[in-house]
Amino acid sequence: MHNRLGSLLAILVLTVAIVYQANMAQSLYRTCVPTLWQSQIFNRTVPLASSLYSNLKCITSSSHSSQPLTRKAFSSSTMASQKSFMDAVKTRRTYYAINKQAPISDDKIEELVNDTILHVPSSFNSQSARAVVLFKDEHDKFWDFVIEVLKPMLPSEEQVKSSTQRINGFRAGYGTILFFEDPKIVTGLQTKMPLYADKFPQWSEHTSAMHQFVLWTALEAEGFGCNLQHYNPIVDQKAQTEWNIPQEWQLKAQLVFGGRAGEPGEKSQTPLEQRVFVHGK
Ligand SMILES: Cc1cc2nc3c(=O)[nH]c(=O)nc-3n(C[C@H](O)[C@H](O)[C@H](O)COP(=O)(O)O)c2cc1C
Repeated sequence: MHNRLGSLLAILVLTVAIVYQANMAQSLYRTCVPTLWQSQIFNRTVPLASSLYSNLKCITSSSHSSQPLTRKAFSSSTMASQKSFMDAVKTRRTYYAINKQAPISDDKIEELVNDTILHVPSSFNSQSARAVVLFKDEHDKFWDFVIEVLKPMLPSEEQVKSSTQRINGFRAGYGTILFFEDPKIVTGLQTKMPLYADKFPQWSEHTSAMHQFVLWTALEAEGFGCNLQHYNPIVDQKAQTEWNIPQEWQLKAQLVFGGRAGEPGEKSQTPLEQRVFVHGK
């Protein structure tokens, strides 16, 4: 009896000691090295203390989000996966300054795309969304195509220069995800359910947007910077020919992603009172 009580006490003391150590490590990690805190190298090589802290917090506290960590604390994928859904939603931003660094592997990116396609909802479970992922040289090629098709459409040399500069900013990234919708599925639903025929094209747009948002947020939770572009329809045919994409698929948006090379711009907010209305609370 005494032996069992002794063992229980020892486990309890050990647990408290581990949690205390982890808190200390986290505190040291965040307060003593503020310059290193900001550096990519530090975040990649010394995530252990913070990771241990978060894991223990998960085990010892019922509400993980009661200790919100800053965006910088999530720049490694180990930590990003511990980010709560609403934290990820709140920290997603448009990053125009991006580079060719990737905080996670191509396989992990592909897994995120697969999970998005499998689990994001679609109207009547139509599953009309299609994603084409372009990495590295293929990504560069896509943005070269955009410059190529856009140039002859621009009215002045000045606009050619500024547009080329802007597009080269996207090309500076690591990859691009092309979001398509398959119109065959939309027309199939229209035939099957004529009552909603006029709504299906709109719901197809909604479906695509949901996929775009999930991947945008998921990639940023993993440490990427992303921005959303719309060079459709001018680039569609060229891209569809190059990557053997069925010509009838409709390109809806391009999500560019890369390492973060700068901060997002200021964002103004219209007051919530003009945008949210609650009744019956
Ligand atoms: C439906 C939609 C379309 C957008 N289209 C573009 C676009 O074509 N080019 C661009 O640079 N940004 C585009 N954006 C990004 C918005 O300008 C940006 O999300 C908005 O200003 C809010 O900033 P934030 O993303 O940093 O929160 C788009 C965003 C959404 C939601």
